[in-house]
Amino acid sequence: MKKFEGKNVFVTGAGKGIGYDICSQFAKGGAIVGLNDMDSDLANKAAREINLKLGSEKVFPYPANIAQVNNLEKKVSAFSEKFGGIHILVANAGITNYGAFLECTPESFDQLTSVNLRGSFFSSQYAAKKMIAQKSGGRIILMSSVTGVQAHDNLAAYGITKAGIRMMAKTLGFELGKYSITVNAVGPGATITERTLEIDPNYEENWNKVAPNKRTARTEDISSAVLFLASEEARHITGQTLMVDGGWTIHSPLPDGGA
Ligand SMILES: NC(=O)c1ccc[n+]([C@@H]2O[C@H](COP(=O)([O-])OP(=O)(O)OC[C@H]3O[C@@H](n4cnc5c(N)ncnc54)[C@H](O)[C@@H]3O)[C@@H](O)[C@H]2O)c1
Repeated sequence: MKKFEGKNVFVTGAGKGIGYDICSQFAKGGAIVGLNDMDSDLANKAAREINLKLGSEKVFPYPANIAQVNNLEKKVSAFSEKFGGIHILVANAGITNYGAFLECTPESFDQLTSVNLRGSFFSSQYAAKKMIAQKSGGRIILMSSVTGVQAHDNLAAYGITKAGIRMMAKTLGFELGKYSITVNAVGPGATITERTLEIDPNYEENWNKVAPNKRTARTEDISSAVLFLASEEARHITGQTLMVDGGWTIHSPLPDGGA
């Protein structure tokens, strides 16, 4: 029997990047996966691609903007009803707005907080309500970042949301413990995705130079940590943020001229 067989997993912001890989890994592990993205074409395409690679239909698209929480609630409910419950939520969706603190607009700040904090908070609440009703415990994994631990240039508001997510893991872990629901966060360091390569074509080379282990994360490095926190072996871990950064937050140097 595969490790996640019989588990239903809902992953937000998963049309590409880290979320896409998380969906692929859970589906490979035998889970049924609800793949959310605000871009419905991308969500449909991603689910189709993963299923094609697997040769079986494990991944189902649930397009919605997680900042529009009423719509998100409907999608989480629809997934749970269709497949007989939800066991694991990965609140991965997050946006990054760059810019100096002195130039940050209220609109940019509200956009960041409504996706990264409000969206993650309510995804967790909707999933937790289902898990509590099922009476079989559950796992919630949030997506923080190294920028929630160390200050970065041009990422003031983003970093605040990612620090907030670390506290979210603690407070929700505390409140949901009595229902056998664990809540943890993963804190990726620089990770190679389409988005980070668009920002800096030399992203990998630049970050390889400064990471203590001299490498830049692949999406699989992040999904491995997520799958571990979702596993039976991690049943006694809650309220934690697992940094997956090759040791970068130990020292935190930036590459010369890199993003
Ligand atoms: N890539 C990195 O280096 C890195 C480092 C630290 C933390 N993170 C965090 O990891 C998560 C994933 O990052 P990524 O680099 O894979 O992102 P990405 O930008 O490559 O992909 C994110 C996906 O989320 C979708 N999305 C954006 N806003 C959404 C919303 N409101 N509702 C639903 N879907 C939405 C996008 O359409 C996109 O397909 C984010 O929370 C990010 O902050 C990434």
